[in-house]
Amino acid sequence: MVEFDCGIVAMKIEDIDEVLAIEALSFAIPWSREAFTMEVCTNRCARYLVAKGTRVLGYVGMWIIMDEGHITNLAVHPDYRGNKIGEVLLKALIKSASSIGITQMTLEVRESNKTAQNLYIKLGFEVSGIRKKYYSNNQEDALIMWNRNINATLGIQKSFS
Ligand SMILES: CC(C)(COP(=O)(O)OP(=O)(O)OC[C@H]1O[C@@H](n2cnc3c(N)ncnc32)[C@H](O)[C@@H]1OP(=O)(O)O)[C@@H](O)C(=O)NCCC(=O)NCCS
Repeated sequence: MVEFDCGIVAMKIEDIDEVLAIEALSFAIPWSREAFTMEVCTNRCARYLVAKGTRVLGYVGMWIIMDEGHITNLAVHPDYRGNKIGEVLLKALIKSASSIGITQMTLEVRESNKTAQNLYIKLGFEVSGIRKKYYSNNQEDALIMWNRNINATLGIQKSFS
């Protein structure tokens, strides 16, 4: 594992060019500039974080719906994967969610995406259902994952942070 001189901070409009580059390298159906701009500038229910040093290395986001956090996306630049940046980002999002009263979080993940599933399981998420043919590019199923007690996860994880 390589140590990177980067911090976790709120995503700003000036980060979006680099976020879009990572998005395009990471997803078959990437979000548009308009989508990220709306999330950062307009959507009061959205929270986005970036891992950033001299450049953006990764990002994560969620929508706040009552006491639930719905994770919308998480990606790390391919050149920097495997260095705990994804885990640090997701932990930071969970901490941020907990700090505003969110108690549980959910997400969808491709059935084939074992790497992301491993990370989610590590941070307390469990599979609770399937959305059949959720992804329009190849009709792949999505696993629905929930962490029903993010505060317990933060307690479990405290010794690692
Ligand atoms: C998923 C993703 C964000 C993980 O980020 P990362 O910084 O590379 O992952 P980390 O180094 O923080 O690893 C954290 C955990 O993820 C899992 N993981 C990471 N890389 C893995 C791999 N190559 N194989 C299996 N599990 C892996 C492990 O559980 C790992 O914990 P461990 O090191 O204790 O075993 C990154 O692979 C990515 O951007 N993928 C493309 C976009 C994507 O699939 N996003 C999720 C959409 S739902």
